[in-house]
Amino acid sequence: MSFPEGFLWGGATAANQCEGAWDIDGRGPAESDVLTAGSVTSPRLVTYRMPDGTTGAAPRWKGAPDGAHREVLEGYRYPNHEAIDFYHHYKDDIALFAEMGFKQYRMSISWSRIFPTGMEETPNRAGLDFYRNVFLELEKYGIEPLVTMWHFDTPLHLEEELGGWQNREILPYWDRYVRTILEEYRGLVRNWLTINEINNTIQFLGAHKPATDEDYQRAYQHLHHQFLASAHAVKMAHEISDDYRVGCMICGVPHYPLTCDPADVMLAQRQMERCVLYCGDVQAKGKYPVYAQRLWNEHGVHLQTEPEDARTLAEGTVDFYTFSYYMTTCDTTHEVKETAGGNMSFGAKNPYLEYSDWGWAFDSLGLRYYLEMVYDRYEKPIMVVENGLGAFDTVEEDGSIHDPYRIDYMRAHIEEMGKAIDEGVNLIGYTSWGCIDLISAGTGEMRKRYGFIHVDLDDEGNGTLARSKKDSFHWYKQVIESNGTDLT
Ligand code: BG6
Repeated sequence: MSFPEGFLWGGATAANQCEGAWDIDGRGPAESDVLTAGSVTSPRLVTYRMPDGTTGAAPRWKGAPDGAHREVLEGYRYPNHEAIDFYHHYKDDIALFAEMGFKQYRMSISWSRIFPTGMEETPNRAGLDFYRNVFLELEKYGIEPLVTMWHFDTPLHLEEELGGWQNREILPYWDRYVRTILEEYRGLVRNWLTINEINNTIQFLGAHKPATDEDYQRAYQHLHHQFLASAHAVKMAHEISDDYRVGCMICGVPHYPLTCDPADVMLAQRQMERCVLYCGDVQAKGKYPVYAQRLWNEHGVHLQTEPEDARTLAEGTVDFYTFSYYMTTCDTTHEVKETAGGNMSFGAKNPYLEYSDWGWAFDSLGLRYYLEMVYDRYEKPIMVVENGLGAFDTVEEDGSIHDPYRIDYMRAHIEEMGKAIDEGVNLIGYTSWGCIDLISAGTGEMRKRYGFIHVDLDDEGNGTLARSKKDSFHWYKQVIESNGTDLT
């Protein structure tokens, strides 16, 4: 049997993509609240107001113009505001997770529910109580929470006042938030993740438009502050409770060379370092890797650091390594005939793979490749905390939803996880992404569905929000019941 006893099967969501209730019970706006909906071909927009009062919307990758303040405006639809209203449905949703047999549920805390602007001296009690109730509900069913401290939703006020992660002054506010939740949920939570897909800042830089040296300077500085934030969180967690274990969270996209031209092989290795390994190396090893200096030199980056930073990083290494896995990508120095396309998917098209409707490559073997590589590198327990297929689903007249494509996708990935375990990888958990349909982070769509549980909600915000079970619900239940031995 590949999967060890106690393997943490489950599912994953993020506050901003499922909770809704964006302005209820004292919650302040977050950066995800000023994003409109897009699609696979059109970007999400960020809405803003200029100092002279004029308003506008710009592609998210471009950002608001200089001098603008991001703001929620009349006349735009913001899908994260209501999302699937987990805030008011959490009891029913958790009951469904329990019915599937979840051992673990990955979720995140919305920082602006706890500190509405990020700058208050005291936390918002209603926000703290909401998560306490969620944890108590999970406890009722013996489901372990795995809690992400930051999942794409810095309080908007901190973004606007300080410039967000760009500014080192964010750290004391972060520390206050983290200390508050670590103290509040002692005894209810054991496992934490610091920053979701921390490497996105660097891996998507230059994907939409060529990046300047100044962009690189900003990106590496932003990451330096997040590394410190993550290290602070690890240290605080260990001081506050012996039970606490803290992990990093990396967007795990392996880079393959498109051809066996050594120049392609070298390029893929360098892309892998920059886009993926850079962050995990700092968080798992507690120092910048040797190749970091080369990456900075390439763009004339001068990291602004304080003398104590090296020690902070060394003392804040994570206890375990986690990552999301959806696809692989190809790099080449040659002219590219076909690109992968799609949202958040770039590079040359791999002729050996098939692609989803959103342009993401199906590559279950790539999951094993990645697992074996990072386990060899860090030798820390690993969890796959996101994986799944975003697809169109059809609700039949009788209400049933047949999603064999999702089952096939997951079966193939779970098989590869089993093989990695057989190879000696200490894989301890798996939480599939969007175990209940939610708002897509990349496109803001609802129709890009990942769930075992369908939510009656469309891209225009219409629907009853009723939950129903897809075929994959019953399949995943059986996978968990058999501890991964029955994947039929
Ligand atoms: C990861 C994020 O990028 O992938 C999630 O951590 C996100 O927040 C998931 O939802 C899938 O991406 P998308 O764009 O399909 O929602």
